[in-house]
Amino acid sequence: MRTIQWNTDLPAVEMIDQRRLPAAMEFISLKSHVEVAGAIRQMIVRGAPAIGAAAAFGLALAGYESDARTAPNLLADYDAAAKTLKASRPTAVNLAWAVDRVMTVIKERSPGRSIESIRGLALREAQRIADEDVEINRRMAEFGASLINDGDTVIHHCNTGALATVDWGTALGAIRMAHEQGKKIRVLVDETRPRLQGTRLTAWELEQYGVPYDIISDNMAGYFLKTGQVQAVLFGADRVAANGDVANKIGTYMLALAAQDNQVPAYAVVPTPTIDLSLAHGGLIPIEERDPSEVLGITYAGEQVAPKKASARNPAFDVTPARLVSAIVTEKGIVLPPYSPNLKEIVSRKP
Ligand code: MRU
Repeated sequence: MRTIQWNTDLPAVEMIDQRRLPAAMEFISLKSHVEVAGAIRQMIVRGAPAIGAAAAFGLALAGYESDARTAPNLLADYDAAAKTLKASRPTAVNLAWAVDRVMTVIKERSPGRSIESIRGLALREAQRIADEDVEINRRMAEFGASLINDGDTVIHHCNTGALATVDWGTALGAIRMAHEQGKKIRVLVDETRPRLQGTRLTAWELEQYGVPYDIISDNMAGYFLKTGQVQAVLFGADRVAANGDVANKIGTYMLALAAQDNQVPAYAVVPTPTIDLSLAHGGLIPIEERDPSEVLGITYAGEQVAPKKASARNPAFDVTPARLVSAIVTEKGIVLPPYSPNLKEIVSRKP
């Protein structure tokens, strides 16, 4: 089942409301690009490839919202919508990548076309991005699964499954593939504070796939790594810089540090659209800081845990230096250090 889809009749972008899982599985229907940008900001849809596909459909929707009668006016409406969508979240490069890809097609191929035909161009490109995401993830899962052995216990951070993509997933896709290949594996699911993507979403997905798992709080990972109970660490990425530095959900850096200290490989599973060769190193990746209420809002036995007047910081991502990443798994193959030349080569390689 796809997490994001286009409804031709309305038209509208439909997506799973990830805020409701695992309590309820509900689709939400968004009828404007502003609603799509809002859904990305509020994490109704989340995960780098999923927000890329959502933004692409959001841009296509802007074409149907527009009452422009001339192509230049329609293009101006697309431009404005592209800006709104790109501003919704800063770290995952897939968002800007997908919006730019649709805009390029619109700009290059609109001359001489009718309004309706330009709308069709944008929608077809958005649909292609969504379809390609599913194919990419399946190929990447095969490569990723080859790094997981029968009998392994692996630690997984955040949610990188079907929910974080259009379907199948990145790091969780590799874990699912290893399970479907008949390997007996177990997953330690980092709960992933503060939004608990691990507890809420990854655990829910693993249940659907029948993969055995245990939820651990993020600060338990070091214990399991040090006591030899883990054979690999897997995570996704929101952006990978040209030198192999990986921006991913907050907590990934500490996890990779503990993995290296215990000689356990840490693998980033990353589709090539997430690799941003325009940034030389991870220090240049914009890191989103979200509302402190996400940290402070946690309750226990029905009461807020933090003092009423407490303040908090909430960076949503961190950057894991390339030296802590054992390999970067892409849909075109597994990339090993040195990352600077090898990432450049894999990005330009034909599928
Ligand atoms: O803030 P989120 O939930 O959108 O962050 C998602 C992650 O950090 C994922 O691990 C990431 O997008 C990589 S894999 C799809």
